[in-house]
Parts: sequence; structure tokens; C-alpha cells
Amino acid sequence: MLSDNIQRNEDGSLSFAGHNVPALARQFGTPLYLMDEERIRANCRMYIQAFRDNFGDAALPLYAGKAASFKQIYRIVGQEGMGVDAVSPGEIHTALSAGFPPEKIYYHGDAKTDEDIRYGVSKGVGWFIVDNEAELQQLNIEAERQGVVQKVLLRITPGIDPHTYHSISTGTVDVKFGVALETGQGFAFVHQALTMEHLDVQGLHCHVGSEVFDESVFEDTIDIMVDFISLLQQKLGYVTRVLNVGGGYGVRYLDTDKQIDIPARIAHVAEHLKQRTGEAGLPLPFFLMEPGRSIVADAGMTVYTVSTVKRIPGYKRYAIVDGGMTDNPRYCLYKAPYTVLNADRDTMFYAVYDLAGRCCESGDIIQPAVKLPDDTRRGDHIAVCTTGAYNYSMASNYNRLGRPPIVMLTKDSSYVAVRRETLDDLCALDN
Ligand code: LLP
Repeated sequence: MLSDNIQRNEDGSLSFAGHNVPALARQFGTPLYLMDEERIRANCRMYIQAFRDNFGDAALPLYAGKAASFKQIYRIVGQEGMGVDAVSPGEIHTALSAGFPPEKIYYHGDAKTDEDIRYGVSKGVGWFIVDNEAELQQLNIEAERQGVVQKVLLRITPGIDPHTYHSISTGTVDVKFGVALETGQGFAFVHQALTMEHLDVQGLHCHVGSEVFDESVFEDTIDIMVDFISLLQQKLGYVTRVLNVGGGYGVRYLDTDKQIDIPARIAHVAEHLKQRTGEAGLPLPFFLMEPGRSIVADAGMTVYTVSTVKRIPGYKRYAIVDGGMTDNPRYCLYKAPYTVLNADRDTMFYAVYDLAGRCCESGDIIQPAVKLPDDTRRGDHIAVCTTGAYNYSMASNYNRLGRPPIVMLTKDSSYVAVRRETLDDLCALDN
């Protein structure tokens, strides 16, 4: 199986996190997001432990809430000792409503409005990750107005190609995020930030992309950032106390994908950073990373019910389910691959189907060309694996479809972390 929290039972039905999937589908209805709480916690602990082993107390992993943002996830990652990367007042509000400590929130975003900045400062958000000069100026004004000195990290674009798909690659020189090193603007950005009286410039941030599998991406990033940190020290006498290298470790969506040994990767990255800063005569900065996908992806599964099977002789077969691009837009957006299973039964006799959704457009495909039982039929439950990251958080109400609930699974129980959107919810904002 793709992940050790997925199993086939003797009767052919599927188990996820030790729970029978068809039984959960009957209890909670479909479409249904399931999340394995123990797996989320284990993924957090893997980062916390690897950081402790390699950096002692001088490092903190931040959960990137954009991967999946709802109150209970912030309670869980908070209990495990993680910080949080948030990108909007909405994510910050969700975290704070769950009791997450504001001082452990790192506020991202390339287009913060005056209102966003005011909100973040007033809520006592510990850290702003400043994306650009306009934000820098406004944040300084707002910090003065509220009588605080705001801690910041400056987002630098290191000019790295992480060899992932284009729309999630963020480190190359021409992206919309951060300020480029290559053009000299990065240096000017730091220089300017250091003149801001109400900002405490603690260090630098960079993020090169998501779904990163290549061994050397973070090491290459560190080479570039340490050279820059050295330059800042020589030219400006500025000591970088904090270095945040972003998120990005890839996960397995298919059996054929590689499994990244994250603790081993972190050990390499730590060793590399220590070596490079040592050679440059620099102090080791406090180290941050912002994993999102690798915390929640393999903790998720989406369950659907087949509404109909269409056979178009000589062309293809569709299995059409009660969800779609509204709860999982990732194939439509990125051609993202997924493992798809019939949750009720296994068989020797398979056929190839396009798994399609219920939205009124032909492109509403959750996954093309999947192998499902030859006799797949109305009422069958279909499981799509590894949907914990960027599914719920990117879900929409297209066609006025309600978003599915999130049901959390623990060792011996299940509970609703986010309830299903009702028809009335869909009209709740309408006058
Ligand atoms: N830090 C920053 C600044 C980021 O922009 C991101 C992701 C992360 C951390 C977390 O990266 P992760 O560990 O999850 O790879 N919607 C796309 C992914 C967009 C990623 C955006 N930034 C998808 O569904 O694949």
C-alpha cells in the first residue's frame, strides 16, 4: 500500500488509520475528508525531533497552514510544539481562535494590505515575513502607530530552480515572491530595512518551491544564502540571527514516487549550514523551515460515492462521483497524480476509468485513467489517497456545492473537526 495507514481488510474493504472506510462513509456521508490525527502528530514529531537532534534549541519547524487550515489542525500542531506560517488574516484568525500563541505565528504574503498589516500587528503576531519594499514601509508606519517594534524576516529570492512543476516553483529570479538577489535588489532591501526604526530585522527568509525531491535543493539554497549573509556582514556589519529556508519536501502520491527520509535530509541540511557558516566565520543562525504538505498530505483521504458509471464503447469509461474539482482541484490545476481505490472491495478484474466529478464542466476530473474493479457501480465508495494537503484548503463552492466535512480519526475514535456545509450555509452571506 501507498502508506502504512492504508490497509485492505480480509473482506476486501479498505481501512484508513485503523478505521473501516465504508463504515465511515455510511456514518458521516460522502464526499468526506478523513484525517489521521496520529499521522499528523507523528509528522510534526519527526520534524521537532530532527530539529532538536541537529540544532538543539536553536531551531523551530513551522507548520504552513496553507496546506490545511482549520481550528483543530492548529491545536494539534500547537500541542506538538510547532510554530505556524500563516498567509492571511483568515489563517491567523483561525489559529488564534484555536488558542494558538500569536508569538509563534510567522505572517507571510506578497500583497498584505494596510488593513492586513494593522490586523497582524494588533494581534501581536510574533513575526512578519516581509515580501517587498512597499510592505516594509507600511509595516514600519503601523508598528510606530501601535507603539511596537515588530520582529521581521525579509523574503529573499535566491534564484534556485527546484525542478518541480511551474506554478509551485517560487525560488527562481523572476517569480512574484520576495526580492531577488541576482539583481542586487535583495541587498538594497536589507539595507533599507535596517534604517526602519520600528522594525527589528532578525534575519532572512527564502522558499524555493513545493514538491521538492532533489537531494541538493536546500543545500544549494543555503550556499546562496550564506554567501549573502556574509556579504551583509562585510558590507553592512549586519549579523543575520535567523534563517528560514521555507517548506517544500515532497510526498508520495503514487507507489512509484520516492519516499523522502526527512530526518536524514534535515541532518544533511544542518551539517551543510554549520559547515558553510563555520567556513565563513559566521554565527549559526536560528533555523526555521515551513513544511505544509509533508505534515498533512499522507494524513488525508477523500471518500466519495459513485453516482454513475458511463461506458462509451471504443472510447472510455467514467466513474462519476458525488464530489469533484470543488473538493480536489489539484488535477485540474496541476495534473496532479493520485492513487485511487475502490473502498468496498478488491478484485482480480480491473478496468480503466476516468474518475470524474459532479461539476458542470468536462474538465472536472479528479484523476484520469485509474484502475478500478470492472464491475464498479452506483453506490460504490471510492477512496482518493494522500489528500490531506491543498485539498480542503483549495476547495470551492463552484456550482453551489457544499464543502465536505473533515472527520479526524484517532486510535479508537472519530470526531468531526469541520462540519459539512449545509444548503443554508451556502446562502448565509446572501442578502
Ligand atoms: N512556505 C512558503 C513561503 C510557501 O509558499 C509554501 C507553499 C510553504 C512554505 C509550504 O510548502 P510545502 O511544504 O507544503 O510544500 N497549491 C499547491 C501548493 C502551493 C504551495 C505554496 N506554497 C499544490 O496543491 O500543490
